[in-house]
Amino acid sequence: MSSPTALPVDWSAAAITKRRDTFYAASQSKFVPFAEPIIFKRGSMQYLWDVDDRKYIDLLGMNVCISVGHSHPVVVAAAMQQAQDLTHCTTMFYHPVPAHLAEELAATLPDSDDWVVHFTNSGAEAIDLAMTMARGYTGNLDLLALRTAYHGPTAAAQSVTGIAGWRHAGLPGNVAFVADPNQYRGIFGEGTEPYLDEIDRTIATSTTGRIAGMLIESIQGYGGVVEMPPGYLAGAAERVRAAGGLYIADEVQSGFGRTGEHFWGFQAHDVVPDIIVCAKGMGNGFPIAAVIARKQVAQPMAEKFMFHTYGANPTSCAAARAVLQVIREENLQDNAQRVGSALLERLQQLQSRHQSIGDVRGRGLMLAIELVENRQSKAPDKTVAAAVFEKCREQGLILSKSGPGQSCLRMVPPLCLSMDDVDIVGDKLDAAFASL
Ligand SMILES: Cc1ncc(COP(=O)(O)O)c(C=O)c1O
Repeated sequence: MSSPTALPVDWSAAAITKRRDTFYAASQSKFVPFAEPIIFKRGSMQYLWDVDDRKYIDLLGMNVCISVGHSHPVVVAAAMQQAQDLTHCTTMFYHPVPAHLAEELAATLPDSDDWVVHFTNSGAEAIDLAMTMARGYTGNLDLLALRTAYHGPTAAAQSVTGIAGWRHAGLPGNVAFVADPNQYRGIFGEGTEPYLDEIDRTIATSTTGRIAGMLIESIQGYGGVVEMPPGYLAGAAERVRAAGGLYIADEVQSGFGRTGEHFWGFQAHDVVPDIIVCAKGMGNGFPIAAVIARKQVAQPMAEKFMFHTYGANPTSCAAARAVLQVIREENLQDNAQRVGSALLERLQQLQSRHQSIGDVRGRGLMLAIELVENRQSKAPDKTVAAAVFEKCREQGLILSKSGPGQSCLRMVPPLCLSMDDVDIVGDKLDAAFASL
Protein backbone atom coordinates (compact mmCIF):
# COMPACT_ATOMS: atom_id res chain seq x y z
CA MET A 1 0.00 0.00 0.00
CA SER A 2 1.39 3.46 -0.86
CA SER A 3 2.33 5.80 1.96
CA PRO A 4 -0.19 8.56 2.74
CA THR A 5 2.63 11.15 2.75
CA ALA A 6 4.11 10.12 -0.57
CA LEU A 7 2.53 12.87 -2.67
CA PRO A 8 4.58 16.06 -2.95
CA VAL A 9 2.97 19.36 -1.91
CA ASP A 10 4.47 22.65 -3.02
CA TRP A 11 3.48 25.35 -0.52
CA SER A 12 5.18 28.28 -2.27
CA ALA A 13 2.89 31.16 -3.19
CA ALA A 14 4.32 31.28 -6.72
CA ALA A 15 3.63 27.60 -7.34
CA ILE A 16 0.10 27.66 -5.94
CA THR A 17 -0.72 30.81 -7.91
CA LYS A 18 0.63 29.32 -11.13
CA ARG A 19 -1.30 26.08 -10.68
CA ARG A 20 -4.52 27.91 -9.82
CA ASP A 21 -4.14 30.35 -12.72
CA THR A 22 -3.48 27.49 -15.11
CA PHE A 23 -5.89 24.84 -13.93
CA TYR A 24 -8.77 26.53 -12.08
CA ALA A 25 -11.78 27.48 -14.17
CA ALA A 26 -12.61 31.18 -14.27
CA SER A 27 -15.78 30.36 -12.32
CA GLN A 28 -13.68 29.19 -9.34
CA SER A 29 -10.85 31.71 -9.41
CA LYS A 30 -12.93 34.89 -8.94
CA PHE A 31 -13.53 34.56 -5.22
CA VAL A 32 -10.20 35.99 -3.90
CA PRO A 33 -10.90 38.83 -1.47
CA PHE A 34 -7.41 40.11 -0.57
CA ALA A 35 -5.09 42.07 -2.88
CA GLU A 36 -2.38 39.46 -2.18
CA PRO A 37 -3.33 35.80 -1.80
CA ILE A 38 -3.19 34.26 1.64
CA ILE A 39 -2.10 30.67 2.25
CA PHE A 40 -3.29 29.00 5.42
CA LYS A 41 -1.47 25.96 6.66
CA ARG A 42 -3.14 25.05 9.92
CA GLY A 43 -5.91 26.00 12.31
CA SER A 44 -6.81 25.40 15.92
CA MET A 45 -10.09 26.57 17.46
CA GLN A 46 -10.58 30.29 16.58
CA TYR A 47 -7.05 30.73 15.20
CA LEU A 48 -5.33 30.19 11.87
CA TRP A 49 -1.65 30.14 10.93
CA ASP A 50 -0.42 31.00 7.47
CA VAL A 51 2.38 29.33 5.59
CA ASP A 52 4.91 31.67 7.29
CA ASP A 53 3.50 30.72 10.70
CA ARG A 54 1.79 34.08 11.27
CA LYS A 55 -1.22 33.76 13.57
CA TYR A 56 -4.67 35.18 12.78
CA ILE A 57 -8.00 35.36 14.57
CA ASP A 58 -10.50 33.87 12.15
CA LEU A 59 -13.53 36.16 12.33
CA LEU A 60 -14.82 34.60 9.12
CA GLY A 61 -14.94 31.07 10.50
CA MET A 62 -13.94 29.87 7.02
CA ASN A 63 -17.19 31.20 5.60
CA VAL A 64 -19.20 30.32 8.70
CA CYS A 65 -18.32 26.64 8.37
CA ILE A 66 -16.18 26.41 11.50
CA SER A 67 -18.71 26.48 14.30
CA VAL A 68 -16.93 24.82 17.23
CA GLY A 69 -13.30 25.51 16.29
CA HIS A 70 -10.79 24.68 13.59
CA SER A 71 -9.78 21.03 13.68
CA HIS A 72 -11.69 20.57 16.94
CA PRO A 73 -10.21 17.35 18.37
CA VAL A 74 -13.58 15.82 19.28
CA VAL A 75 -15.02 16.41 15.81
CA VAL A 76 -11.86 15.25 14.04
CA ALA A 77 -11.67 12.12 16.20
CA ALA A 78 -15.33 11.24 15.53
CA ALA A 79 -14.89 11.66 11.78
CA MET A 80 -11.56 9.81 11.71
CA GLN A 81 -12.97 6.89 13.64
CA GLN A 82 -15.90 6.63 11.25
CA ALA A 83 -13.69 7.09 8.17
CA GLN A 84 -11.48 4.26 9.36
CA ASP A 85 -14.43 1.95 9.98
CA LEU A 86 -16.43 2.80 6.84
CA THR A 87 -15.80 6.09 5.03
CA HIS A 88 -18.94 6.06 2.97
CA CYS A 89 -22.19 4.16 3.07
CA THR A 90 -24.85 4.97 0.51
CA THR A 91 -28.31 5.73 1.84
CA MET A 92 -29.49 2.55 0.06
CA PHE A 93 -27.99 0.68 3.01
CA TYR A 94 -28.86 1.25 6.63
CA HIS A 95 -26.33 2.84 8.98
CA PRO A 96 -26.94 4.02 12.55
CA VAL A 97 -24.88 7.24 12.50
CA PRO A 98 -27.05 9.28 10.06
CA ALA A 99 -30.16 7.88 11.74
CA HIS A 100 -28.93 9.11 15.13
CA LEU A 101 -28.11 12.51 13.64
CA ALA A 102 -31.60 12.83 12.13
CA GLU A 103 -33.13 12.14 15.54
CA GLU A 104 -30.79 14.62 17.23
CA LEU A 105 -31.63 17.36 14.72
CA ALA A 106 -35.36 16.77 15.14
CA ALA A 107 -34.85 17.06 18.92
CA THR A 108 -33.72 20.69 18.47
CA LEU A 109 -37.31 21.56 17.45
CA PRO A 110 -40.67 21.67 19.22
CA ASP A 111 -42.81 18.54 18.55
CA SER A 112 -39.65 16.64 17.66
CA ASP A 113 -41.60 13.60 16.40
CA ASP A 114 -43.21 15.74 13.71
CA TRP A 115 -39.96 16.54 11.87
CA VAL A 116 -38.03 14.51 9.32
CA VAL A 117 -34.59 15.03 7.83
CA HIS A 118 -33.11 14.66 4.34
CA PHE A 119 -29.30 14.96 4.24
CA THR A 120 -27.56 16.56 1.27
CA ASN A 121 -23.98 17.45 0.40
CA SER A 122 -24.27 21.22 0.42
CA GLY A 123 -26.51 24.06 1.48
CA ALA A 124 -27.51 24.84 -2.11
CA GLU A 125 -28.65 21.28 -2.70
CA ALA A 126 -30.71 21.54 0.45
CA ILE A 127 -32.22 24.82 -0.79
CA ASP A 128 -33.08 23.10 -4.12
CA LEU A 129 -34.73 20.28 -2.25
CA ALA A 130 -36.67 22.66 0.00
CA MET A 131 -37.94 24.47 -3.12
CA THR A 132 -38.97 21.18 -4.73
CA MET A 133 -40.64 20.01 -1.54
CA ALA A 134 -42.59 23.25 -1.14
CA ARG A 135 -43.72 23.24 -4.77
CA GLY A 136 -44.69 19.57 -4.62
CA TYR A 137 -46.55 19.85 -1.32
CA THR A 138 -48.48 23.01 -2.14
CA GLY A 139 -49.00 22.38 -5.85
CA ASN A 140 -47.96 26.01 -6.44
CA LEU A 141 -44.92 27.16 -8.42
CA ASP A 142 -44.20 30.72 -7.33
CA LEU A 143 -41.69 31.43 -4.58
CA LEU A 144 -40.82 34.64 -2.78
CA ALA A 145 -37.36 35.64 -1.63
CA LEU A 146 -35.68 38.78 -0.32
CA ARG A 147 -33.74 41.01 -2.69
CA THR A 148 -30.49 40.93 -0.73
CA ALA A 149 -30.60 37.21 -0.01
CA TYR A 150 -27.97 34.67 -0.96
CA HIS A 151 -29.15 31.05 -1.03
CA GLY A 152 -26.43 29.23 -2.94
CA PRO A 153 -24.73 28.46 -6.26
CA THR A 154 -26.91 25.80 -7.93
CA ALA A 155 -29.28 27.09 -10.62
CA ALA A 156 -32.35 26.75 -8.42
CA ALA A 157 -30.62 28.34 -5.39
CA GLN A 158 -29.37 31.19 -7.60
CA SER A 159 -32.92 31.72 -8.82
CA VAL A 160 -33.95 32.72 -5.26
CA THR A 161 -30.75 34.74 -4.72
CA GLY A 162 -31.35 38.41 -5.29
CA ILE A 163 -27.82 39.89 -5.36
CA ALA A 164 -26.83 40.36 -9.03
CA GLY A 165 -23.19 39.46 -8.50
CA TRP A 166 -24.22 35.94 -7.54
CA ARG A 167 -26.70 35.37 -10.40
CA HIS A 168 -25.51 33.87 -13.68
CA ALA A 169 -27.33 33.52 -16.98
CA GLY A 170 -30.08 30.98 -17.61
CA LEU A 171 -31.78 30.69 -14.24
CA PRO A 172 -35.18 29.07 -13.76
CA GLY A 173 -38.07 31.41 -12.98
CA ASN A 174 -41.21 31.60 -10.88
CA VAL A 175 -39.49 33.69 -8.22
CA ALA A 176 -40.59 37.15 -7.08
CA PHE A 177 -38.38 39.28 -4.87
CA VAL A 178 -39.55 41.52 -2.06
CA ALA A 179 -37.74 44.43 -0.46
CA ASP A 180 -35.64 43.39 2.51
CA PRO A 181 -36.77 44.84 5.84
CA ASN A 182 -33.35 46.34 6.44
CA GLN A 183 -33.82 48.71 9.37
CA TYR A 184 -30.73 50.74 8.46
CA ARG A 185 -31.22 51.30 4.74
CA GLY A 186 -34.42 49.53 3.69
CA ILE A 187 -36.49 51.33 1.04
CA PHE A 188 -39.42 51.84 3.45
CA GLY A 189 -37.25 53.06 6.32
CA GLU A 190 -37.63 51.64 9.81
CA GLY A 191 -40.51 49.45 10.97
CA THR A 192 -41.97 46.09 10.08
CA GLU A 193 -45.45 46.75 8.67
CA PRO A 194 -44.42 48.44 5.40
CA TYR A 195 -42.30 45.43 4.55
CA LEU A 196 -45.11 43.03 5.38
CA ASP A 197 -47.46 45.06 3.17
CA GLU A 198 -44.88 44.64 0.43
CA ILE A 199 -45.25 40.85 0.71
CA ASP A 200 -49.01 41.17 0.18
CA ARG A 201 -48.48 43.50 -2.77
CA THR A 202 -45.90 41.21 -4.35
CA ILE A 203 -48.13 38.15 -4.01
CA ALA A 204 -50.98 40.13 -5.56
CA THR A 205 -48.98 41.58 -8.46
CA SER A 206 -45.98 39.37 -9.26
CA THR A 207 -47.31 35.84 -8.70
CA THR A 208 -50.37 33.81 -9.63
CA GLY A 209 -51.76 34.69 -6.22
CA ARG A 210 -51.05 31.21 -4.89
CA ILE A 211 -47.47 30.56 -3.83
CA ALA A 212 -45.28 27.62 -2.85
CA GLY A 213 -43.46 29.52 -0.15
CA MET A 214 -40.97 32.14 0.90
CA LEU A 215 -37.32 31.66 1.77
CA ILE A 216 -35.95 33.87 4.54
CA GLU A 217 -32.72 33.94 6.54
CA SER A 218 -33.49 35.09 10.07
CA ILE A 219 -30.24 37.07 9.83
CA GLN A 220 -28.97 37.52 6.29
CA GLY A 221 -25.36 36.44 5.95
CA TYR A 222 -23.89 37.59 2.65
CA GLY A 223 -26.64 40.22 2.55
CA GLY A 224 -24.56 42.00 5.22
CA VAL A 225 -25.87 40.59 8.54
CA VAL A 226 -29.32 42.08 8.12
CA GLU A 227 -31.51 40.93 10.98
CA MET A 228 -35.23 40.48 10.40
CA PRO A 229 -37.03 43.05 12.57
CA PRO A 230 -39.45 42.01 15.35
CA GLY A 231 -42.69 40.63 13.94
CA TYR A 232 -41.40 40.23 10.40
CA LEU A 233 -40.91 36.46 10.34
CA ALA A 234 -44.24 35.74 12.02
CA GLY A 235 -46.03 38.27 9.79
CA ALA A 236 -44.38 36.92 6.65
CA ALA A 237 -45.23 33.31 7.59
CA GLU A 238 -48.86 34.31 8.15
CA ARG A 239 -49.15 36.03 4.76
CA VAL A 240 -47.32 33.29 2.90
CA ARG A 241 -49.47 30.58 4.48
CA ALA A 242 -52.63 32.52 3.66
CA ALA A 243 -51.55 32.38 -0.01
CA GLY A 244 -51.10 28.60 0.20
CA GLY A 245 -47.32 28.64 0.76
CA LEU A 246 -44.74 27.50 3.29
CA TYR A 247 -42.23 29.44 5.36
CA ILE A 248 -38.78 28.09 4.50
CA ALA A 249 -36.12 29.15 7.00
CA ASP A 250 -32.62 29.29 5.54
CA GLU A 251 -30.56 28.72 8.68
CA VAL A 252 -27.36 27.91 6.80
CA GLN A 253 -25.50 30.79 8.51
CA SER A 254 -27.71 31.62 11.49
CA GLY A 255 -28.29 28.10 12.84
CA PHE A 256 -26.35 25.87 15.22
CA GLY A 257 -26.18 28.26 18.16
CA ARG A 258 -24.50 31.11 16.29
CA THR A 259 -27.02 33.76 17.36
CA GLY A 260 -26.40 32.93 21.03
CA GLU A 261 -29.81 33.09 22.63
CA HIS A 262 -31.21 30.24 20.58
CA PHE A 263 -30.04 27.22 18.63
CA TRP A 264 -31.91 28.40 15.49
CA GLY A 265 -32.06 32.05 14.45
CA PHE A 266 -35.83 32.00 13.86
CA GLN A 267 -36.43 31.02 17.51
CA ALA A 268 -35.87 34.65 18.52
CA HIS A 269 -39.05 35.49 16.60
CA ASP A 270 -41.60 33.17 18.16
CA VAL A 271 -42.44 31.43 14.90
CA VAL A 272 -41.87 27.90 13.64
CA PRO A 273 -41.07 27.32 9.95
CA ASP A 274 -42.47 24.54 7.78
CA ILE A 275 -39.05 23.71 6.33
CA ILE A 276 -35.58 24.46 7.72
CA VAL A 277 -32.37 24.36 5.70
CA CYS A 278 -29.05 23.94 7.49
CA ALA A 279 -25.43 23.45 6.37
CA LYS A 280 -22.03 25.09 7.00
CA GLY A 281 -21.46 25.06 10.79
CA MET A 282 -23.38 21.80 11.00
CA GLY A 283 -20.26 19.86 9.94
CA ASN A 284 -17.54 22.19 11.32
CA GLY A 285 -15.82 21.93 7.94
CA PHE A 286 -16.99 18.44 6.94
CA PRO A 287 -19.37 18.70 3.98
CA ILE A 288 -22.93 18.08 5.08
CA ALA A 289 -26.28 19.87 4.90
CA ALA A 290 -29.90 19.00 5.52
CA VAL A 291 -33.51 19.83 4.97
CA ILE A 292 -35.57 19.43 8.11
CA ALA A 293 -39.27 19.43 7.25
CA ARG A 294 -42.63 18.77 8.79
CA LYS A 295 -43.48 15.11 8.13
CA GLN A 296 -46.55 15.95 6.05
CA VAL A 297 -44.57 18.44 3.92
CA ALA A 298 -41.94 15.83 3.05
CA GLN A 299 -44.44 13.01 2.50
CA PRO A 300 -45.51 13.68 -1.14
CA MET A 301 -41.92 13.04 -2.25
CA ALA A 302 -42.23 9.39 -1.21
CA GLU A 303 -43.39 8.48 -4.71
CA LYS A 304 -40.19 9.51 -6.50
CA PHE A 305 -36.45 8.99 -6.37
CA MET A 306 -34.30 11.78 -4.84
CA PHE A 307 -30.73 10.70 -4.21
CA HIS A 308 -27.75 12.79 -3.13
CA THR A 309 -24.71 10.53 -3.51
CA TYR A 310 -22.96 11.71 -0.35
CA GLY A 311 -26.07 12.76 1.54
CA ALA A 312 -26.05 10.90 4.89
CA ASN A 313 -22.38 10.05 4.42
CA PRO A 314 -21.50 8.54 7.82
CA THR A 315 -18.14 10.33 8.16
CA SER A 316 -19.73 13.77 7.80
CA CYS A 317 -22.68 12.66 9.94
CA ALA A 318 -20.29 11.50 12.68
CA ALA A 319 -18.65 14.95 12.54
CA ALA A 320 -22.07 16.67 12.75
CA ARG A 321 -23.08 14.55 15.76
CA ALA A 322 -19.83 15.57 17.44
CA VAL A 323 -20.57 19.24 16.64
CA LEU A 324 -23.88 18.97 18.51
CA GLN A 325 -22.09 17.28 21.42
CA VAL A 326 -19.38 19.96 21.58
CA ILE A 327 -21.89 22.84 21.40
CA ARG A 328 -23.66 21.27 24.37
CA GLU A 329 -20.64 20.22 26.45
CA GLU A 330 -18.60 23.38 25.90
CA ASN A 331 -21.62 25.71 26.31
CA LEU A 332 -20.81 27.33 23.00
CA GLN A 333 -24.24 28.81 22.46
CA ASP A 334 -23.92 30.66 25.79
CA ASN A 335 -20.40 31.65 24.84
CA ALA A 336 -21.67 33.05 21.53
CA GLN A 337 -24.16 35.17 23.44
CA ARG A 338 -21.71 36.41 26.10
CA VAL A 339 -18.70 37.01 23.86
CA GLY A 340 -20.91 38.25 21.02
CA SER A 341 -22.50 40.88 23.30
CA ALA A 342 -19.06 42.05 24.40
CA LEU A 343 -17.87 42.27 20.78
CA LEU A 344 -21.03 44.14 19.77
CA GLU A 345 -20.36 46.65 22.55
CA ARG A 346 -16.76 47.13 21.37
CA LEU A 347 -18.00 47.68 17.82
CA GLN A 348 -20.49 50.28 19.08
CA GLN A 349 -17.62 52.08 20.85
CA LEU A 350 -15.69 52.07 17.57
CA GLN A 351 -18.73 53.56 15.85
CA SER A 352 -18.63 56.49 18.23
CA ARG A 353 -14.94 57.08 17.34
CA HIS A 354 -14.97 56.52 13.59
CA GLN A 355 -17.36 58.44 11.34
CA SER A 356 -17.16 55.90 8.51
CA ILE A 357 -18.96 53.28 10.60
CA GLY A 358 -22.59 53.92 9.72
CA ASP A 359 -24.16 50.94 11.40
CA VAL A 360 -23.27 48.16 13.85
CA ARG A 361 -25.60 45.19 14.02
CA GLY A 362 -26.16 41.53 14.60
CA ARG A 363 -26.69 39.03 17.36
CA GLY A 364 -24.49 36.49 19.12
CA LEU A 365 -21.46 35.80 16.97
CA MET A 366 -23.07 36.99 13.76
CA LEU A 367 -22.12 40.67 13.65
CA ALA A 368 -21.22 43.35 11.13
CA ILE A 369 -20.25 46.96 10.76
CA GLU A 370 -21.39 48.85 7.70
CA LEU A 371 -19.11 51.50 6.19
CA VAL A 372 -20.61 54.64 4.67
CA GLU A 373 -19.30 57.72 2.87
CA ASN A 374 -21.20 59.85 5.35
CA ARG A 375 -23.82 59.13 7.95
CA GLN A 376 -26.47 61.36 6.38
CA SER A 377 -26.44 59.94 2.86
CA LYS A 378 -25.59 56.41 4.07
CA ALA A 379 -23.91 55.86 0.70
CA PRO A 380 -22.16 52.48 1.01
CA ASP A 381 -18.38 52.84 1.13
CA LYS A 382 -16.77 49.76 -0.30
CA THR A 383 -13.38 51.52 -0.58
CA VAL A 384 -13.08 52.05 3.17
CA ALA A 385 -14.41 48.55 3.80
CA ALA A 386 -11.71 47.10 1.53
CA ALA A 387 -9.00 49.24 3.16
CA VAL A 388 -9.95 48.21 6.70
CA PHE A 389 -10.20 44.62 5.55
CA GLU A 390 -6.61 44.71 4.22
CA LYS A 391 -5.29 46.57 7.31
CA CYS A 392 -6.90 43.95 9.54
CA ARG A 393 -5.20 41.20 7.60
CA GLU A 394 -1.83 42.88 8.19
CA GLN A 395 -2.63 42.82 11.91
CA GLY A 396 -3.74 39.22 12.02
CA LEU A 397 -7.52 39.53 11.73
CA ILE A 398 -9.51 37.78 9.04
CA LEU A 399 -12.87 39.44 8.34
CA SER A 400 -15.37 39.12 5.51
CA LYS A 401 -16.59 41.77 3.08
CA SER A 402 -20.32 41.33 2.66
CA GLY A 403 -23.50 43.02 1.53
CA PRO A 404 -24.68 43.82 -1.99
CA GLY A 405 -22.23 46.74 -2.13
CA GLN A 406 -19.37 44.95 -0.30
CA SER A 407 -19.54 47.74 2.27
CA CYS A 408 -20.09 45.57 5.36
CA LEU A 409 -17.42 43.85 7.41
CA ARG A 410 -18.96 40.65 8.71
CA MET A 411 -17.79 38.78 11.80
CA VAL A 412 -18.86 35.18 12.14
CA PRO A 413 -16.03 33.51 14.07
CA PRO A 414 -16.00 30.04 15.58
CA LEU A 415 -18.31 30.03 18.60
CA CYS A 416 -15.32 29.50 20.93
CA LEU A 417 -14.08 33.09 20.46
CA SER A 418 -12.92 34.35 23.88
CA MET A 419 -13.23 37.63 25.80
CA ASP A 420 -9.47 38.10 25.36
CA ASP A 421 -9.96 37.84 21.61
CA VAL A 422 -12.63 40.55 21.80
CA ASP A 423 -10.09 42.97 23.29
CA ILE A 424 -7.58 42.14 20.60
CA VAL A 425 -10.18 42.47 17.81
CA GLY A 426 -11.42 45.81 19.24
CA ASP A 427 -7.89 47.24 19.49
CA LYS A 428 -6.83 46.06 16.05
CA LEU A 429 -9.98 47.30 14.35
CA ASP A 430 -9.49 50.63 16.09
CA ALA A 431 -5.90 50.80 14.83
CA ALA A 432 -7.01 49.81 11.32
CA PHE A 433 -9.55 52.68 11.19
CA ALA A 434 -7.11 55.13 12.75
CA SER A 435 -4.47 54.30 10.12
CA LEU A 436 -6.69 55.19 7.17
C1 LIG B 1 -27.68 31.61 3.69
C2 LIG B 1 -27.06 30.60 2.78
N1 LIG B 1 -27.86 29.69 2.19
C3 LIG B 1 -27.36 28.75 1.38
C4 LIG B 1 -26.02 28.69 1.09
C5 LIG B 1 -25.48 27.64 0.17
O1 LIG B 1 -24.72 26.72 0.87
P1 LIG B 1 -23.55 25.91 0.14
O2 LIG B 1 -22.46 26.87 -0.19
O3 LIG B 1 -23.16 24.87 1.15
O4 LIG B 1 -24.13 25.31 -1.08
C6 LIG B 1 -25.15 29.63 1.67
C7 LIG B 1 -23.72 29.60 1.38
O5 LIG B 1 -22.98 30.49 1.63
C8 LIG B 1 -25.69 30.61 2.54
O6 LIG B 1 -24.92 31.52 3.12
